[in-house]
Amino acid sequence: MINPLDIKWCINKNIRIAMYLNKRHGGTYVYLRSNGELIGTAALQPKKINGEKYVEITSLYVKEPYRNRGIGSIVLKEILQFAKERGFKGILGHIMHADSLENIKRRLNFYLKNNAEIKLKGYKKTFKGEKVPVLQFILT
Ligand SMILES: CC(C)(COP(=O)(O)OP(=O)(O)OC[C@H]1O[C@@H](n2cnc3c(N)ncnc32)[C@H](O)[C@@H]1OP(=O)(O)O)[C@@H](O)C(=O)NCCC(=O)NCCS
Repeated sequence: MINPLDIKWCINKNIRIAMYLNKRHGGTYVYLRSNGELIGTAALQPKKINGEKYVEITSLYVKEPYRNRGIGSIVLKEILQFAKERGFKGILGHIMHADSLENIKRRLNFYLKNNAEIKLKGYKKTFKGEKVPVLQFILT
């Protein structure tokens, strides 16, 4: 059951998005709704790096028909503001490796477009045996 602690409205290209922040199981879950439909999600967890507090984003997801309209970028900005207001230095996450190189490039492009700092953390192999980079993004 969604028990919204905080609801934020973002308006972008005629899509009115409600961001529901639901704190459970030690993390915060973001639900994006437009006209009652769930159109995306994200999960947030506190993480310390070199003694500094960050919010780690996992599973940022926007439903396919709603992609490429700036929604993912708006949500990233809102999460960054949310984190900073609560005393965190910024947000970070990993570009998932268990996928094709093409998808990694698209995700990398998305985070670069949003002014993220990218760090190469190593390499992994996909299930197809393709060697792909593991990248970390940081936004402050
Ligand atoms: C990544 C994602 C959240 C972006 O959401 P969005 O609302 O489309 O984002 P925006 O409209 O602000 O930005 C669009 C940019 O995302 C990137 N993008 C487009 N389709 C994508 C896809 N299927 N997967 C990843 N990135 C994609 C492109 O760089 C695009 O920029 P362009 O228009 O200059 O080509 C969304 O594409 C998605 O849910 N993808 C699948 C899950 C995923 O990859 N999550 C990130 C895990 S690290």
